[in-house]
Amino acid sequence: MTFDIVTIFPAMIEQPLAAGVLGRAIERGLLTVKVRDLRDFTTDRHRVVDDVPYGGGPGMVLKPDPIFRALDAIEAERGRPSAVILTSPQGARFTQADAKRLSRVETIVVLCGRYEGVDERVRERVTEEVSIGDYVLTGGELPALVILDAVARYVPGVVGDEDSVTHDSFSRGLLDFPQFTRPPVIRSARLSAEPDSERELTVPDVLLSGNHAEIRRWRKREALRRTLERRPDLLAGAKLDEEEVEILRALQDDRMAGTQKVGE
Ligand code: ADE
Repeated sequence: MTFDIVTIFPAMIEQPLAAGVLGRAIERGLLTVKVRDLRDFTTDRHRVVDDVPYGGGPGMVLKPDPIFRALDAIEAERGRPSAVILTSPQGARFTQADAKRLSRVETIVVLCGRYEGVDERVRERVTEEVSIGDYVLTGGELPALVILDAVARYVPGVVGDEDSVTHDSFSRGLLDFPQFTRPPVIRSARLSAEPDSERELTVPDVLLSGNHAEIRRWRKREALRRTLERRPDLLAGAKLDEEEVEILRALQDDRMAGTQKVGE
């Protein structure tokens, strides 16, 4: 799978990709990422990539012609890309489902938006405009890395344990259950409300029990509890099995009972 990332700040993409899981995937040839400096596609002496907006107003707009030339160069090298993504706060919200869908295509171009915007005519060459969330960043480099990371996780071999990708609970529309590792007990004075005393932080007994059926059920319940508390909006689209539907009902009943008690 190949990513071509068009940006005016190549170092913002290159440096993060030098390390970590993606760095290793690139080293091993599982992923090809080519960073294209938009200024290389200008034709003037000053390598100007932006201009004032027609109609006036603050800020600068990325010029269309260097972007068109960059896209032409990528197409001449690789053929027509499967997807041309423009990062922008005006885009559709990027989701896990998009990451999975995009991981099945061969060549992806990401155009990093910048300044107050990008000349509207660029959208003629764009197949999707993507926002990574309802906030405004200084440019599209961080969103490009976010998209690349989320997509690359689905490329076979990139993440060591493939089960952790296909079974990750977010793919099913739920938040993850809590995880613990050794040691089984942590004692800390800092966490105690009482002076000169320690508080013990323990691991839920069920996880130490070795009873795999119980552990599975506990994890389902805790994933559902978290989702219900923190992101109830996800539950409408979540793929739940019969056991989870039953656990969710019980959790909702408990919450209702709790709410009533407070109001009594
Ligand atoms: N550029 C600036 N903010 C952005 C966002 N939230 N998502 C994608 N691109 C952006």
